[in-house]
Amino acid sequence: MTRDFNEENATEAVLERMAHAKDARFREVMSSVVRHLHAVAREVEPTPEEWMAAIQFLTATGKMCDDKRQEFILLSDTLGLSMLLDAIWHRKPAGATESTVLGPFHVAGAPSRENGDNICLDGKGEPCVMSGRVLSADGKPLAGASLDVWQTNDDGFYDVQQPDEQPGMNLRGRFTSDAEGKFWFRTVRPVSYPIPDDGPVGRMLKKMGRHPWRPAHVHFIVSMPAFETVTTHLFVEGDEYLESDAVFGVKGSLIKEFVRDESDVEAKKWGVSAPFWRTEHDFVLAAAGAQS
Ligand code: BEZ
Ligand code: FE
Repeated sequence: MTRDFNEENATEAVLERMAHAKDARFREVMSSVVRHLHAVAREVEPTPEEWMAAIQFLTATGKMCDDKRQEFILLSDTLGLSMLLDAIWHRKPAGATESTVLGPFHVAGAPSRENGDNICLDGKGEPCVMSGRVLSADGKPLAGASLDVWQTNDDGFYDVQQPDEQPGMNLRGRFTSDAEGKFWFRTVRPVSYPIPDDGPVGRMLKKMGRHPWRPAHVHFIVSMPAFETVTTHLFVEGDEYLESDAVFGVKGSLIKEFVRDESDVEAKKWGVSAPFWRTEHDFVLAAAGAQS
């Protein structure tokens, strides 16, 4: 215990003061937070103006949050913290489909769809057929797995961002793998789009010399009883933002070739018009408890 708080003993003084916290985990977490915050202050030695700018930034970030917009999560996403935590939380056995951030645009309760259904309700963009299987880590097809799918429309907006312009539940749906573990659906070729950048996080990105763009992707949550649920995306090979995703969500195993097909015969087979895009992917689920 000290009566003489100074630059040298500041960190120890605060840590000591928590010695009687009842919740040991809380004490552990807060001790780490204090140690790291103090380390930042010692390393950066912010001026009073810089400190106030930081406080104002966090205040603005909080004020930007409501039930539709979560600027703090966007901050975590753009600083790579969400993907670091995702990696820590989902250490997968080899071969299992890798996970990525959920993002703010998932809507619970998307409509159940039949395999082959078209989730594009606004008719914009280039038709695309996505298909594949859901498998266990030992390669067995999983029948009855759920695939919750969502993506932006051809203008790069989710339906919830444009409630007056897009049909409700546009480009969303929940599919179920068939007896052979297969799924397939019709959609629109995904496009790259900017994350919401009209708030403090957008200003931060600009000041960091960064852009707000995400490479074209389709989101999936794949789940099955007795298996670990995976929240992931599939990305389009060749997209210009694959190496600079604003939220660091890209993993090599999730980048897929989207093949353009001009054949009317093939298009007819899939119930789309030519030209159209095709991609296939097998999702591999880890057994429940197999994550470390
Ligand atoms: C998304 O892909 O929908 C997303 C993810 C993180 C932040 C913003 C958007
Ligand atoms: Fe997205």
